Parts: sequence; C-alpha cells; structure tokens
Amino acid sequence: ADTGSLIWGYHLLQRPGEPPLDKGLIPWLGHVLEFRRDTFKFLERMRQKHGDVFTVQLGGFYFTFLQDPFSFGAFVKESREKLDFNSFAEQLVYRVFGYKAVENDHHVLHNASNKHLKGEGLEVMTQAMMSNLQNLMLHSVGSATDQSPWKEDGLFMYSYNIVFRAGFLALFGNVPHKSEGGEEKAKEKDRTHSETLFYEFRKYDQLFPNLAYGVLPPKQKWEADRLQSYFWDAVSVQNMKAKDNISRWVWDMQQAKEEVGMDESMINKYMFVLLWASQGNTGPSSFGPSLLLSPRLPQTYAAHFQIKPKNQTFYSDHKNLRCLRIAKRLNIRQPKWALFLSRLNFILSCRPGTKNVKTDPLLAWLLPCVSMCPGRFFATNELKQFVFLMLVYFEFELKNPNEEIPEIDFRRWGFGSMQPIRDVQFRYRLRF
Ligand code: HEM
Repeated sequence: ADTGSLIWGYHLLQRPGEPPLDKGLIPWLGHVLEFRRDTFKFLERMRQKHGDVFTVQLGGFYFTFLQDPFSFGAFVKESREKLDFNSFAEQLVYRVFGYKAVENDHHVLHNASNKHLKGEGLEVMTQAMMSNLQNLMLHSVGSATDQSPWKEDGLFMYSYNIVFRAGFLALFGNVPHKSEGGEEKAKEKDRTHSETLFYEFRKYDQLFPNLAYGVLPPKQKWEADRLQSYFWDAVSVQNMKAKDNISRWVWDMQQAKEEVGMDESMINKYMFVLLWASQGNTGPSSFGPSLLLSPRLPQTYAAHFQIKPKNQTFYSDHKNLRCLRIAKRLNIRQPKWALFLSRLNFILSCRPGTKNVKTDPLLAWLLPCVSMCPGRFFATNELKQFVFLMLVYFEFELKNPNEEIPEIDFRRWGFGSMQPIRDVQFRYRLRF
C-alpha cells in the first residue's frame, strides 16, 4: 500500500473510536457493484461522505480506506496488538496465490535475500539479468543498415515485457543448451516461453486488484483460477529442476521449503508468490525512465530530466555495471560494442520539479523501491540496465511529439507500482 490509500479487512461492527462504517444497501455484497464499476469514483464519493478514513463492505469483507497519505506514517507505526498487517497479508497471499503461510517464511526469505540480492550475490544476479536482456532486446531487430526499419510498439508494454521476461529468466533459470541441442535453440526457447508467461502474467495482473478485494465477477474469477493453475505449473519445482542457471535466491527458498517437509504442490504455490513479488513491480516501473529518456518528449517534461548523451558520465553507483564496459564479456556484436561503448557516456540526473504538478505522475512511476522490499537493490539494477541498453542499442523516439504524459490507473492504488491508464506509442531501431 505504497502510493494512494491503505486498506485492510475483516472486522464487522463499528466500535467506538473506529472510522465510519458504510455497509451499503445490498446485504453481504455491500458496495461491490459500484466499487467494481469505477473504484476511483466510488472512493471519492465515500471520502466526501465520510472524510479521509472510512470502512466499507465489499462482498463479505470489510475494508478500511485511509485516503490522506500524511496519516500513513502514524498509522503504520501502531503497535502489533492494534494493527497486525501479517494476518491480513497471509489471508491475501492465500486468496491470490493459493499459498498457506508457514512460521519460518520470513526468516528464510530474509536470509536468502540478504545473501543473494545484495553484495556479491547481487553481482551474479546482475550479470544474469544482463545476458537475458541482451537475448531479448537484440533478437528480431535485425542488423542495422542504412535502411534499418523502425519498429513500433507501446512503450509501456515494451518495457514491461522486456524487464519482466529478463527478470524472470535471471531468477528462475534458462532452458539448458543440452536439452535443445545448442545455445541458439535454447535461447529461442527462453524467448518464446517467457513471452507466453508474460502475456498470462499480464492477464493476472489486470485481474489482480479486484481479485485481492474479492470482488471479481464469476467469469473473471474462473479466469483467475485458470491462471493460478497455469503459474503453479509454469514455476513448479519440477519444471525448475529441468532449468540451468536458477538463481540462488529462488533455489535456496525452494530447498528450505523442501527441508521442512512442505508439500511439493505448496512449494509450487510459493514459487508463484516469488514470481509475483519479483516481477509484478519492476516491469511497470521501467515505463517512467524509458518515457523520460525518449527523444521528442515535450520540453515541459524533458526539462525535469536532464539527458546529455554526448557528455561523459553514466552515473552508476553499482560496480556491477562495469561488465558493460569490458569487451570480452559482451558476446554479441563484440567489436562494434567495444568501439561504441568506448565513446559512449551519459549523465542522467533527476530534477523533480516539485512546484510543477505535471511532474507528479512521472515521479509516481519513478517510485523508488520501498525501503522494506528485499529486492530493491536488484530492482534498481534491473531498471538501470534496461534503460542503459535502450540507449546503447536503439535509436528510439515517441511517435507523437506532442504526447501527453498518461494519467495513472487509480484502480491499482495500494497494489504496488503504478501503471499508466493508456500506452504511449514509440518507434525504435538498432543504432548500428
Ligand atoms: C521497482 C520494483 C519494486 C518495487 C516498487 C517493490 C516494492 C515492494 C513493496 C512496496 C513491498 C512491500 C514491503 C513491505 O510490505 O514491507 C515489497 C515486498 C517484496 N518484494 Fe519488492 N518491489 C520491487 C521489486 C522487487 C524485486 C526485483 C524482488 C525480488 C527479486 C522483490 C521481492 C520482494 C519480496 C520477496 C517482498 C516480500 C517481502 C516480505 O514479505 O517481507 N521486489 N516490494
């Protein structure tokens, strides 16, 4: 619940000192129909009626909304006895992923994250991310010639797609070369498999807010159930054991679950939780930086994000990115790369114009990983790598020089990184 409103559930009667309770007119369902139709409008209506804090009934659950971001701090600092996010989180995880939490979950997660998503472990992860990004970004763009054709796509979908798939492959492993009879075939299989997974993930992603609130209509609920089964299988222990390069992060957690005697089918569900946690936010977050770096972005926005491709420094606080500059690690188009990179340097510096309200949506997309996220260092690297490769590989620009920055999709408030309400068309082609 990081950007808009805070929610929690499961209590039935308003007690003294509690926020106003609005059960709606329909027994059990409460406000579910209006909520489903236009969440933002509904919440706005409730806010006008009850103020910044209120509780509403939605399909048998009671959710309390906190609309004033300045009160979040005081709220989350409350003691465990008064406010326990864990039990709500456990119910939610069960509902949306089918996973039943066990006692040492957090301990194992934090151990594995400390070991493998920081320090030396992070370096290994970052290199895996780099080779998967290269596989995905360079295939099918052909080789650059004078007539190198432009390709068109939605910038949000393109960025989300690439970052999701490369992140998935870096964490959950690659198809072994041996099983496919060669490196190129194995890489191709990685591409096609991750592409299918992305499109299914995207469907789940869109159902997610209403699934979490428990307000999906029957047909969509059926689709959500189908997708759940698909993911339990796609990231199952069995499928994973047939992969190469599984990250230690995923591997350690899977081993730890096996060691405590957890059912394999339950471990599969946990793997889906990990897939969601690791991929649900990073892809959407890559849209902001790619948008900001697009030539033809109207000056009002570009002014807030200074890009000096001809100047001399690409700021990176991560030594992991140095692999980009060592020719022998760059196995694709090596000679051109080495030459190109030896000349190429950037300065990227963010200048948020706090007085300009127009920058708000931009900043929301650039939302830094929240301090409690154990994947925040890896996520930051993933985003930097993606944006850097976009700049290195492609000439790209927005199709419409008068493009308006799209609004945020408010229906997703409280569910991780924000997404735009519509996509922005862009075109790209290889630089060389
Ligand atoms: C821009 C990208 C990302 C954003 C905005 C983000 C944001 C968040 C937020 C807000 C939380 C909840 C923190 C809390 O409740 O205390 C969280 C939890 C988590 N994130 Fe991330 N995250 C991102 C990327 C990643 C990546 C790349 C990974 C893994 C490789 C990851 C793994 C996790 C896990 C496992 C949790 C659950 C932590 C727990 O239960 O204690 N995240 N993330």
